[in-house]
Amino acid sequence: MMETLFEAAAKVRAKAYSPYSNYGVGAAVLGEDGNVYSGCNVENASYGLSICAERSAVFSMVASGVQKAFRCAVVTKDGGTPCGACLQVLLEFADDPMTFEVGLMDENGSKKSFTLGKLL
Ligand code: THU
Repeated sequence: MMETLFEAAAKVRAKAYSPYSNYGVGAAVLGEDGNVYSGCNVENASYGLSICAERSAVFSMVASGVQKAFRCAVVTKDGGTPCGACLQVLLEFADDPMTFEVGLMDENGSKKSFTLGKLL
């Protein structure tokens, strides 16, 4: 099941708008309705107005009327972990942070997995 999320995250990463950092990120969360919600980072010339991929995915889920998620996949070039702000937003809608899985994949397909609780 995490595989489906990785596929969605890799696909949406191609749509990232990241001309300032040159670090495209794709994220996908599994909502409690069984659907996958994805998002990419979208940067701005005023850097603070940028949004991370994880928050974009979660906000898309909420805008669809779903307020609980079970796991999240993130794809970057180097398998980096979500920032603190995104972890906090994931926590807001996580079913249980100690079982909520955060899967990370780099552009070579190398994967790691943590619980949200562990990353926080
Ligand atoms: N970024 C994400 O979208 N998610 C992460 O997990 C880490 C950072 C974005 C923010 C910014 O657009 C770029 O990656 C570089 O920090």
